[in-house]
Amino acid sequence: MKKLKKVLLYGSGVMLLLLLLAAMVFQVNFYWRAQKDYVVKVRPVEITYTTEAIQQGRHLAVVKGCNDCHGQDMGGKAMLDDPAIGFVSAPNITKGAGGLPADYSEADYVRALRHGLGKDNKSLLIMPAHETSKLSDKDVAALVAYCMQLPPVNRTLPESDFNMMGKALTTFGLIPAFAAEGVDHTYIQPKEMLQEVSVKYGKYLAVSCSGCHKADYKGGPSPVLGFPPIPNISSTGRVGNWSKAQFAAVLKTGQLPDGRIMRNEDMPWKMTRHYTTEEVESIYLYLRSLK
Ligand code: HEC
Ligand code: HEC
Repeated sequence: MKKLKKVLLYGSGVMLLLLLLAAMVFQVNFYWRAQKDYVVKVRPVEITYTTEAIQQGRHLAVVKGCNDCHGQDMGGKAMLDDPAIGFVSAPNITKGAGGLPADYSEADYVRALRHGLGKDNKSLLIMPAHETSKLSDKDVAALVAYCMQLPPVNRTLPESDFNMMGKALTTFGLIPAFAAEGVDHTYIQPKEMLQEVSVKYGKYLAVSCSGCHKADYKGGPSPVLGFPPIPNISSTGRVGNWSKAQFAAVLKTGQLPDGRIMRNEDMPWKMTRHYTTEEVESIYLYLRSLK
């Protein structure tokens, strides 16, 4: 009996030590990656403040999901409060109180969007820079023009704070916590993408769908636990049998040809419904070109 007690005591002591050690590894790994200084050259982009540019910027802010995370007024939002990850807020990116500093420049916006880096050249958290880094010069300029002229919103959000589980998942590469790590920092973006109905334009636009539908658009298990699997939307999936009108209805209303309406929380159709008819047609052409 005494012996058993001794073994148990010893065993739990070892367990505790191992847990502590693991926790230390996760802390250090997270800290090290958060503190990494990136050396990138932000390629200058000319920002023009025409009505057309600002309108295109607003359109992009909607269809690229900036508003979903940063809020309708871009004044920031608590984005995630998950016991398995921790707390993440998408910050106030206006120049109001609690927002970006007054000297946050056009180039700082470009650095955030194209490299996933803050003013201090350290990685931003969660911000989907691997997608925004693919935007053309003209589109990124439009977004920056739009952001720079936003009315200041006074809102202070609590700082993001990953818990131990979130740090463990990050260490194992299960959450893309650090935006800059997913970016090809040497990528040279196209100057402009012609806004015409074409496979090429569709490919450019569909980058925004790849985060969920995967790089090959063939879907797979959801990255978020408890969410439905992500369908294949290439020509080998059901989209391959749908007419252009049926596809457009799915993106515009969330309603599938069989009548079921998808939940916006699963497939964000309240966002995709803002794509223009030409954009939807281009995405359709591109997805159907994928064998
Ligand atoms: C999935 C949610 C999400 C989406 C979509 C998103 N962001 Fe972010 N963004 C974040 C988070 C979270 C941060 C904060 C990163 C941090 O705290 O390190 C951030 C940071 C930023 C920053 C940097 C602020 C700073 O402190 O330097 C800018 C600028 C920004 N986002 C603009 C945009 C724009 C413009 C879009 C649309 C093209 C966009 N974001 C889309 C979540 C998002
Ligand atoms: C946040 C993740 C997410 C993003 C971003 C996203 N989707 Fe989806 N999509 C889903 C999920 C999940 C479903 C399945 C939902 C269901 O069946 O209820 C789905 C379903 C679909 C379907 C129906 C497919 C079928 O066979 O039933 C189409 C078409 C589709 N998405 C196209 C797109 C396109 C095009 C984009 C980009 C413009 C996009 N999605 C962006 C998650 C996403």
